[in-house]
Amino acid sequence: MQDNITPILEASLNAISKSQNLAELKEVEVKYLGRSGQITELLKSLKDLSPEEKRTTGQAIQNLKNDFSNSYQPKFQQLQKAEIDAKLTSEFFDLTLSEINPSRSLDKGTIHPLSQLQQEIEQTFSEMGFEIADGPEVESEYYNFEALNVPAHHPARDMQDTFFIDHPKDPKQGHLLLRTQTSPVQIRSMEKYGTPLRLIIPGRVFRYEATDATHDSTFNQVEGLLIDKNIGLAHFKGIMTEFLSRFFQHEITTRFRPGYFPFVEPGIELDILWKKGQNGQPDKWMECMGAGMVHPNVLKAGGLDPDVHQGWAFGFGLTRLAMLKYGIDDIRNLHANDLRFLKQF
Ligand code: PHE
Repeated sequence: MQDNITPILEASLNAISKSQNLAELKEVEVKYLGRSGQITELLKSLKDLSPEEKRTTGQAIQNLKNDFSNSYQPKFQQLQKAEIDAKLTSEFFDLTLSEINPSRSLDKGTIHPLSQLQQEIEQTFSEMGFEIADGPEVESEYYNFEALNVPAHHPARDMQDTFFIDHPKDPKQGHLLLRTQTSPVQIRSMEKYGTPLRLIIPGRVFRYEATDATHDSTFNQVEGLLIDKNIGLAHFKGIMTEFLSRFFQHEITTRFRPGYFPFVEPGIELDILWKKGQNGQPDKWMECMGAGMVHPNVLKAGGLDPDVHQGWAFGFGLTRLAMLKYGIDDIRNLHANDLRFLKQF
C-alpha cells in the first residue's frame, strides 16, 4: 500500500497546479478527499492492516494529506482572488437604477437650506469678482477682538458674549475662544493675501446667549471685504443692492443708518424695505447687516498702510436672511434636524 502513496501524491499535486479555476480545483479536492476520494480510500483501508503497519502507513498518509493541503490552500486563494478581480472588472451594478424601478423608491438626502443659500451667495459674489475665504472657528482673542480695534477692557467686548476655551493664555494671542464673528478672517486675509482684496467669508459663529425664537448660540454669518485704492461707500451700496435683489429674487430697496462697530469708521447699518403689502400690513424697514469703511487701525493690524489703501466690510447673519427669505419664524428650526421642516426646501 505504501507503494500507492507516492504516485497519488504526485498526481494530486499535479492536478492542483493544473487547475484553472475554483470549479476545477474543487473537482480535484473531491477526487482525492471526497467521500470515496483516493486519499479517503487509503485511510479506509488502514483498518485491514496490522498494528505495526497501521502506524507507519497511517503516518505516511497523514503526510500525504498535509502535502496536499499545503499546495491546495495557496492555489485556492490565488484562484479565488482571480475570480473576484474578474467579477469586479466585468460586472457593473448601477445603483441609480433602483430609481427608475417604480416599485422601489430611493430615499435621497437634500441639501440643508443654509448650505443651499450659502452656495447661492457664493455663486452670486463669484460672478461679481469676489473670492471665497475661510478661517478657523476656534480663534484667538487677538484676531477676534484685538486686531479688530477692540482692545482688552473695551466695552465693545460685551456686545458679543463669548465662549472662552479652557486653555493656557498665549502671551501674544491671548485666550482661545469660539469666534463670535467672521470678521477675524478680515485680518487673516490681509496678512495672507495683501491687496487688492475682494472676499466673502461664510462661516459659523458662536455667542454665549440664551436661545429663543430669534437667537441661537450658533449661527452662520457671511463677511465681505473689499480693499483697494480709492474705495468708497457708494460702491458698497451698489454691490449690496444688486446682491440682495438677486438673493430675494426681486428688486430690493436699501437704506443706510449710522451704526457702531469698532472695526469700521464710519460704521453703518444697512436696512431693507420689507414689503408686506399683500396682507394689508405696512411696509417695514428690516435691519439686515452691519458694514462700514474698514478702520485704519484694522488695516494697520493687517499689515496695510491706511494712507494708501481703503476698503469696506460687511457682515450679515446668513441665518437671519434665510429666515426673512423663507418666512421662518423660529431660528431653532434650522438646527433641529427635523426632516419635515428640512424637506420643504
Ligand atoms: N462682525 C459684525 C457682527 O458680527 C458685523 C460687521 C462686519 C459689521 C463687518 C461691520 C463690518 O455684528
